[in-house]
Amino acid sequence: MCGICCVISFSIQHTIGDFFKEDLLCSLRRRGPNCSQQLIKTESDLSYQCLFSGHVLHLRGLTTPQPLEDTNNNVFLWNGEVFNGIHVGTTENDTKIMFHHLTSCNNESDILSLFSSVQGPWSFMYYQASTHSLWFGRDYFGRRSLLWQFNNGLEKALCLSSVSALSGSDNQWQEVPVSGIFRIDLKACAATKSLTLILYPWKYRFQENATEETLKDGLDQISKDLPTYISLAMSEPKFCLVAPVTPLNRTIPEIKTECHCTNFYSDSVSVENLQRFLAEDHKKKLVHQLIDVLSEAVKRRVLCLFRGTDQLKRENHSVSARKAHVAVLFSGGIDSMLIAVLTDRHIPLEEPIDLLNVAFMSKECTKSKGASKKHENQKNQLELLACQEHFKELDIETSNSLSCFSVPDRITGRAGLKELEMINPSRTWNFVEINVTLEELKRMRQQHISHLVYPLDTVLDDSIGCAVWFASRGEGFITNQGDLKPYKSSAKVVLTGIGADEQLAGYSRHRVCFKKYGLEGLIKELGMELSRISSRNLGRDDRIIGDHGKEARFPFLDEDVVSFLNSLPISEKANLALPRGIGEKFLLRLAAKELGLTASTVLPKRAMQFGSRIAKMENSHEKASDKCSRLQSVAGD
Ligand SMILES: *[C@@H]1O[C@H](CO)[C@@H](O)[C@H](O)[C@H]1NC(C)=O
Ligand SMILES: *[C@@H]1O[C@H](CO)[C@@H](O)[C@H](O)[C@H]1NC(C)=O
Ligand SMILES: *[C@@H]1O[C@H](CO)[C@@H](O)[C@H](O)[C@H]1NC(C)=O
Ligand SMILES: *[C@@H]1O[C@H](CO)[C@@H](O)[C@H](O)[C@H]1NC(C)=O
Ligand SMILES: *[C@@H]1O[C@H](CO)[C@@H](O)[C@H](O)[C@H]1NC(C)=O
Ligand SMILES: *[C@@H]1O[C@H](CO)[C@@H](O)[C@H](O)[C@H]1NC(C)=O
Ligand SMILES: *[C@@H]1O[C@H](CO)[C@@H](O)[C@H](O)[C@H]1NC(C)=O
Repeated sequence: MCGICCVISFSIQHTIGDFFKEDLLCSLRRRGPNCSQQLIKTESDLSYQCLFSGHVLHLRGLTTPQPLEDTNNNVFLWNGEVFNGIHVGTTENDTKIMFHHLTSCNNESDILSLFSSVQGPWSFMYYQASTHSLWFGRDYFGRRSLLWQFNNGLEKALCLSSVSALSGSDNQWQEVPVSGIFRIDLKACAATKSLTLILYPWKYRFQENATEETLKDGLDQISKDLPTYISLAMSEPKFCLVAPVTPLNRTIPEIKTECHCTNFYSDSVSVENLQRFLAEDHKKKLVHQLIDVLSEAVKRRVLCLFRGTDQLKRENHSVSARKAHVAVLFSGGIDSMLIAVLTDRHIPLEEPIDLLNVAFMSKECTKSKGASKKHENQKNQLELLACQEHFKELDIETSNSLSCFSVPDRITGRAGLKELEMINPSRTWNFVEINVTLEELKRMRQQHISHLVYPLDTVLDDSIGCAVWFASRGEGFITNQGDLKPYKSSAKVVLTGIGADEQLAGYSRHRVCFKKYGLEGLIKELGMELSRISSRNLGRDDRIIGDHGKEARFPFLDEDVVSFLNSLPISEKANLALPRGIGEKFLLRLAAKELGLTASTVLPKRAMQFGSRIAKMENSHEKASDKCSRLQSVAGD
């Protein structure tokens, strides 16, 4: 994870540094604490200036400071990981390799085919000196954040950055859309004194003709959000990016789904019932394909990082001295359980795995610590049991020790930990209990979180942003021989399960959609959700997790995983005729069962804002889609 930024100014009277504020620098440095550098290019004759600012988080190989510059004056900033698609030798650095490829490109086609073949998350800026062009953009899903901001004052300027500045300013920042990559012809813009962006859109390999109209729609959509003084143009049709995943299979099966139900002894949502489906050869084959492709995705994400090799060689290390390199955002739900199990498969046995579990103090405790605690606890417990009617194997012992932080995700998290310990008792599983009080939430929201969530602004963005920020910070308590002791996760890589619900119909709104509009409607909804996951979730989550000098990695959004899931008809992935706890993310549940998981395989989905109880902490009467006043009061101008 790195912080990258570029300021372009079409005036050479001003020093460009004036556009680059101290607080922006601070935000960028938090993402890339290991090395910061700046570079200014001034083209006095053509009257434009560029400032490049690179902040590096060191993860593997030798530290490669950014921005990179070659003898021809080309400049490159890269915030990404090449996991596949382009060869990066074990001793090579992906930033350098990408720059080398870029500088060898002879024309636009070459550049586009390069970005079509990279697999992994990225955002980048590339100044191509020979054409006076600035190229920039984000990967197909938008797994790395990139924002833009335009200035139409006396000094015409454009700023691109991984994060925005702390303080508000007159000019709104926006997320760079993931419809394609962009180019600015700086020479032409300086000459005409107007700013034109050229979009090179993504296209599906097998659908060249289907997209003309959707491309136009996409262009209009982006234009609509841009200030009126910015023009947006589409590249020539022959120049486009090829999507790194296969398109969604929209086939609706002819056989009615009910026939599956004959296998299902309907009234109980149980692990035994899942087992019955695994008896079908066809299902079993798909389950194994899913496990294989997901396992590879996790492997790439947990092995591509620096592990002090000497640390592993020193057999003598006491258990507590060993450092975790990988952490999982962990609710004990099926997505995080699968990721944890697959991580366990691939990393050295001596290395602990951090399971980050966040809980917000319940409102009752906030109000009156202790007073009516017992009563409230019983109430909590009843609520919990009600919302988890299917989760019969809930550990009685843990539910008895309910405290202010015993929120639903804490309880399922502990139960999940037990399952993982059964699967691999030799692994050190650090279950990190992260308890957040109202005071700390308020303080951190104001100091850090609100500007990371920005430009997103809803109640839901606030809840999830705060929950993910505290979870990924990794500061909490672990239980060591019965005692709670303070713990701070050292893992630089944080895995999250995002993307599973969007692809396998995990949200309750999918059931509503299915009931109303049938499979056709459901397919449409899922296609739409995956296409907007960048602007709904990923940019925000990347800014939030990156703020701790850590890197978010998303195994469910690996190109091969998405291609595999996209290739299957919806009926193989979910069966919403089956009850909650089984029907949604059906294929994933079977995979979890096959990997040896038990009670967690039939847990119904619980959204993080409810599971962690943050949604209840401050104002439970708001709608998730309302603008969040708590964010605005600080981020406001
Ligand atoms: C990178 O920065 C972090 C945070 O300051 C520090 O803990 C780590 O040791 C640094 N790594 C290297 C290789 O300098
Ligand atoms: C390349 O260098 C950057 C900066 O030091 C580092 O973050 C990244 O992990 C390196 N990549 C590889 C593949 O070594
Ligand atoms: C672009 O350059 C490559 C060589 O690098 C060449 O093979 C290709 O035909 C060129 N494409 C166009 C459209 O000019
Ligand atoms: C592509 O064009 C052909 C001919 O115009 C049309 O029949 C076909 O439906 C189009 N493909 C898609 C996916 O729309
Ligand atoms: C392991 O630890 C013991 C006691 O601390 C020490 O005597 C021994 O030299 C160590 N072995 C290695 C290989 O470091
Ligand atoms: C955190 O919350 C848990 C309840 O899940 C509680 O058992 C633990 O004591 C709390 N830790 C601290 C330090 O308050
Ligand atoms: C969609 O799924 C059906 C049924 O499995 C299969 O026959 C078809 O080839 C798939 N289509 C695509 C485009 O993958």
